[in-house]
Amino acid sequence: MTVNELNAIISSSKKAVFFGGAGVSTESGIPDFRSPDGIYMSKQKYPPETMLSHTFFMEHTEDFWDFYRNMLYCPDVKPNAAHFKLAELEKAGKLTAVVTQNIDGLHSAAGSKNVYELHGSALRNYCMKCGKFYTADEVMSVNGIPECSCGGIIKPDVVLYEEALDDDIVSGALNAISNADTLIVAGTSLTVYPAAGFIRYFGGENLILINRDKTAMDSAFSHIIHGKVGEIMEKIKL
Ligand code: APR
Repeated sequence: MTVNELNAIISSSKKAVFFGGAGVSTESGIPDFRSPDGIYMSKQKYPPETMLSHTFFMEHTEDFWDFYRNMLYCPDVKPNAAHFKLAELEKAGKLTAVVTQNIDGLHSAAGSKNVYELHGSALRNYCMKCGKFYTADEVMSVNGIPECSCGGIIKPDVVLYEEALDDDIVSGALNAISNADTLIVAGTSLTVYPAAGFIRYFGGENLILINRDKTAMDSAFSHIIHGKVGEIMEKIKL
């Protein structure tokens, strides 16, 4: 698929939805997970999927926070061309929703209003005892386990392995996808469920994949562009 063809599809869409993963934020300087330079490729004491599980958080809370602060927190990152173009497309009435697996908050920072954060947000942290909210800066600026003023342990508002996705976010995302006329999937290896299974709810005309590398589900797509999503989205004309 060429960028001109992508342009033509987007200009004729009225209810496009964007479904993105970590590859949407790499051009903002945030590493993805499974690429050669990804977070999961770094040498750690335990396998990364173990360290990002609910059990590990509960049983090795300090090790969890050390890994999370060092590997998943990227202060001072800014939205890139992909985030900004999606916000413009929403404003122009072309795009109805962004569904993201990312926890970096960059879609909202770029101005997107209807964003479904399937895996939560690193910008939100809550006390497990009293529910008090804490910002990322507050929990990242301390060493060890961040504690609430009530003495409770603070947990990031992100979906860890073994944890369920938020029901309202799931139904909102699935509703948007099933009503879409165009679904643009980008920057994801489509290897983590249930998120990767969401694209099965799309019944519209144009199922598009924009991804740097091949994915496990390339054959499911009617249109594919292999490349950098920020560079490609920047060429989309409103
Ligand atoms: N443009 C387009 N594609 C890119 C870019 C880019 N600039 N940078 C990386 N990619 C692609 C890679 O080729 C890869 O296929 O993005 C994909 C990123 O895949 P993963 O690292 O597996 O990230 P993701 O699919 O978002 O992972 C899903 O796994 O561990 C969980 O919760 C975590 O949300 C995450 C989930």
